[in-house]
Amino acid sequence: MTPLLDKASAAPRALTHRELVEILTWPDAKKLFAAAYAVKCREIGKFVSFRGLVEFGNVCEKDCYYCGIRRSNGKVRRYRMDADEIVREAEWALKAGYGSLVLQSGELTGEANVAFVENVLKRIHAIGGDDFGITISLGEQSEETYRRWREAGAHRYLLRIETSNPELYAKLHPADHSWERRRDCLRALRRCGYQVGSGVMSGLPGQTADDLASDIEFFASEDLDMIGMGPYIPHADTPLGMNAEWTPELRKARLELGLRMIAATRLYLHDVNIAAATALQALDPEGREKGLLAGANVIMPNVTETRYRADYQLYADKPCLNENSTLCRGCLERRIASIGESIHWNKRGDSPHWSKR
Ligand code: 5AD
Ligand code: FES
Repeated sequence: MTPLLDKASAAPRALTHRELVEILTWPDAKKLFAAAYAVKCREIGKFVSFRGLVEFGNVCEKDCYYCGIRRSNGKVRRYRMDADEIVREAEWALKAGYGSLVLQSGELTGEANVAFVENVLKRIHAIGGDDFGITISLGEQSEETYRRWREAGAHRYLLRIETSNPELYAKLHPADHSWERRRDCLRALRRCGYQVGSGVMSGLPGQTADDLASDIEFFASEDLDMIGMGPYIPHADTPLGMNAEWTPELRKARLELGLRMIAATRLYLHDVNIAAATALQALDPEGREKGLLAGANVIMPNVTETRYRADYQLYADKPCLNENSTLCRGCLERRIASIGESIHWNKRGDSPHWSKR
């Protein structure tokens, strides 16, 4: 090893900003990934946690310039599952031994939606009990809404900050989307007692290694429990993606950058849950395994009914569009065995960072 990787491995939050940049741009990527994987094995063991992902609707009030389901994209066939469908998929994930669930949809506000989600959460909690983890990823809401959903049974929340740089954020979103509001939502979620997860995209136009190092420092200063990050992948029907250059070389570099972010985050934070995002697999059939070997410990197998999957495309080349939940389960089981890791069946898989609080 080398002194800097040793220093990062020995204690969390040990690096200066400059050193974080150095780690992110480490010349020998293999060594970087191996160091991060060693920290992951020490802190968490050779285990992967599963979260069954239900993408229950793609109607969205937001208009992010990079996202395929932004409200101005008229090419999307919009759908919303009903409560029975969502509960059925949650039950499937429970029976499949996944131990926890993520409910995600486009961002909707308004009392009808708040009450709908509240009801679904109560039904799922009644079936799964406290041992079945329920994560929600439903965007920016009022603190009151977050509190109602927490009381209805959700106990983790994912809300990506997208970038810790407010100026870059402003370039990626219309003027009525606010970085400060997003950050304040993360703090409101903490007050409501959630395990809080956030993350960023890497490889955004105009983003620098400095920005990425600041992103990791943001995760630390907000004291996050879970991190979900992925490479930015242009979507042809979005303002940011429509004329984007997208070559095999760029894909390869984007994948590596995504892995470097995982590794640097593991080396800086040590005991948080880090997801190997599906976007990694959009860039490389083995992207998620590579993410695990670079320090991630969570995978979110899609449990959405196949007929909806094509309509929930945030980025190009989303994998598993034609697969069903059973196929994905078998596929992921084999993939994880192939790298010598075990699946934490039937475990909520709480963030160790959270458990130590
Ligand atoms: N490429 C990669 N990730 C994307 N997301 C949205 N659009 C893209 C894209 N084009 C991510 C955002 C969002 C999460 C649900 O999906 O980070 O928070
Ligand atoms: Fe869906 Fe591999 S995870 S087919």
